[in-house]
Amino acid sequence: MKNIFKFCLFLVPVLFISCALQPEEERALVSEKSFENWSKKIKLNLEVFESETHDAFVDIYVNKLAKEAYEERLSIFPVGSEVYKPLYNNTKKENLARVVIMIKMKEGYDSKNGDWWYGVTDRTGKELWHEGRIQHCIDCHALAKETDYMFSESVMEEIKVQKELREEEVHIFEY
Ligand code: HEC
Repeated sequence: MKNIFKFCLFLVPVLFISCALQPEEERALVSEKSFENWSKKIKLNLEVFESETHDAFVDIYVNKLAKEAYEERLSIFPVGSEVYKPLYNNTKKENLARVVIMIKMKEGYDSKNGDWWYGVTDRTGKELWHEGRIQHCIDCHALAKETDYMFSESVMEEIKVQKELREEEVHIFEY
C-alpha cells in the first residue's frame, strides 16, 4: 500500500509536467516565439508581385527546409518547413502591413488540413496577432491541397516569368 502511495506521489508531478508540456511541444516547431528574422530567410521571387486574392503586393520567403518542396511544387512539405509572405500596399514596398506565415507541424497537429500552423504578425515579426489552425486561412489554402496547401504552382509560374524577363533585360543590355 505504501508503495502504491509513493507511486501515486511520483505520478502527480509527471502528469503535471506532461500536461504542461503539451502546448510547449506544439510550439516547439514554431521555433521562434517572435518572427523577427523572417526577412533573413530565402526570398524566392525577384520582384514583388500582385497577390491574386489580397489587395496587396507580396514577396515569398522560405526557410531551407521548404525551398525544394516549394520550387518543385511537391505534394508534401517536410516537417519544419516555414513560408513567409509579407504584404505591402504598393510595388515600392513603402508600407508593409503584415506578414502571413505557414509552418509545417508534426503529423497529428491538424491531420485533416495538412498539419499546417498559420500565423499573422506585424511588419517587424515581433507581434503575433493570430496563430494556430486559423479556419479562414485553411479554407482558402485547401484550394491548393495537391501541392500541400501551398500556392506554389501559381507563385512559381509568376517567378518563372520574372526570371525570363530579367534574362531578356540582360540580353538587351549586352547588345
Ligand atoms: C482567399 C484565399 C486566401 C486566404 C483567405 C488566405 N490565403 Fe494565403 N495565399 C493565398 C494565395 C492565392 C497565395 C499565393 C500568393 C498570392 O497570390 O498572394 C497565398 C500565399 C500564402 C503564403 C505563401 C505560401 C503559398 O501558399 O504560396 C502564406 C504563408 C500564406 N498565404 C498564409 C496565409 C495565412 C496565415 C492566412 C490566414 C490569415 C491566409 N494565407 C489566408 C490565398 C489565401
